[in-house]
Amino acid sequence: MKTMIKDVSKYAGEEVTIGGWLANKRSSGKIAFLQLRDGSGFIQGVVVKEDVGEEVFAKAKALTQESSLYVIGTVQRDERSPFGFELVVKDIEVIQDSKDYPITPKAHGTEFLMDNRHLWLRSKRQHALMQIRNEIIRATYEFFNENGFSKVDPPILTGSAPEGTSELFATKYFDEDAYLSQSGQLYMEAAAMALGKVFSFGPTFRAEKSKTRRHLIEFWMIEPEMAFYDFEDNLEVQEQYVSHIVQSVLKNCPIQLNTLGRDLSKLEHIKAPFPRITYDDAIKFLHEKGFDDIQWGDDFGAPHETAIAESYDKPVFITHYPTGIKPFYMQPDPNRDDVVLCADLIAPEGYGEIIGGSQRIHDYEFLKRRIEEHNLSMDAYKWYLELRQYGSVPHSGFGLGLERTVAWISGVEHVRETIPFPRLLNRLYP
Ligand code: 4AD
Ligand code: MG
Repeated sequence: MKTMIKDVSKYAGEEVTIGGWLANKRSSGKIAFLQLRDGSGFIQGVVVKEDVGEEVFAKAKALTQESSLYVIGTVQRDERSPFGFELVVKDIEVIQDSKDYPITPKAHGTEFLMDNRHLWLRSKRQHALMQIRNEIIRATYEFFNENGFSKVDPPILTGSAPEGTSELFATKYFDEDAYLSQSGQLYMEAAAMALGKVFSFGPTFRAEKSKTRRHLIEFWMIEPEMAFYDFEDNLEVQEQYVSHIVQSVLKNCPIQLNTLGRDLSKLEHIKAPFPRITYDDAIKFLHEKGFDDIQWGDDFGAPHETAIAESYDKPVFITHYPTGIKPFYMQPDPNRDDVVLCADLIAPEGYGEIIGGSQRIHDYEFLKRRIEEHNLSMDAYKWYLELRQYGSVPHSGFGLGLERTVAWISGVEHVRETIPFPRLLNRLYP
């Protein structure tokens, strides 16, 4: 077995073999510095002509970017490396010579990099982002498993549309009409009545004609759903979950955050509880700030969310939105029926909404009326209504968008870099 770069600290002073690729290279007549990567990390290999001899040194000097190779060398402590180690190379075995790799160390435009996404993923920055994404997924499973949740997988092919019908990807299911899932929520409600506390993690499809730094056509969502949890309980789970993933990334991805140049002081204090503001107060606040374009009853746009988030150094919950701008399943506030028991969690630094959640209607007659008012098909929602006929209980849940969360925690501008192969308006390649 080859030694992985991330584990070299265990082999200080010893000889190891690494299987990897040449990311970059600098050389003079006497010494060559190889930037090596193996998927687990990056390390510098030092090749000294005097020590390795003519033949190995010539091989090192001839190496081209992204050639695959085995490198045999001794692990040596080095304070300048982010790992604290470098490899003193003894021998090199080239597996494949790479010719004319298109992504050179010089700067490239975004469209060029996106066209070469299958190769761009190998760069140090993209590698760091994928590892942070992986850490958030790992910490998600850890959090929900430790808190008594079961993972449940809702279907991707569905016959109903929980978040409204305008942004659906329609497809054929033999002779029937079907849609790609835009949220697993309704199925997770059924699962919560069977298993109590559940969470899902899966792809979500929205045919949104939005071309912004926050929108993907295909994104991944974590959707927890909890029986007997009310609106307040729901917010507590959310702030504890988000705190856990931020603290886990800080603890387990210091090298990756450093690669991205992330300002850690923006993350260290992200711990529950999070501030809350009602929709009513948010509207007042926006009017005071001079936003005349928004009235009570309107949904917030990105500039509104950013203005609200700027007042806080943690994510902020905006609660109790008007009934008219939220989906049919949300429980109204018991004190006034023009707002619902919902909250969006807005990330700091302009990253926008990362969570949408609510308490769900659990009264059968009331939910039926809502389905009728929204002109939804009673046939498609028959099973969903039945959940309210057989031992209905108050319950709540939420959905966290993975890519927006990765973007915020990593501090990258656009969600396109936070998913391996982004699906965007006008982009289905590669
Ligand atoms: O607010 P949304 O639409 O909520 C739901 O789908 C609920 N059914 C979830 C639930 O209660 N189980 O979406 C949830 C989150 C958003 O807050 C955002 O982070 C992300 O999903 N999201 C997107 N991320 C990237 N691109 C898009 N086009 C997104 N649309 C939503
Ligand atoms: Mg939302």
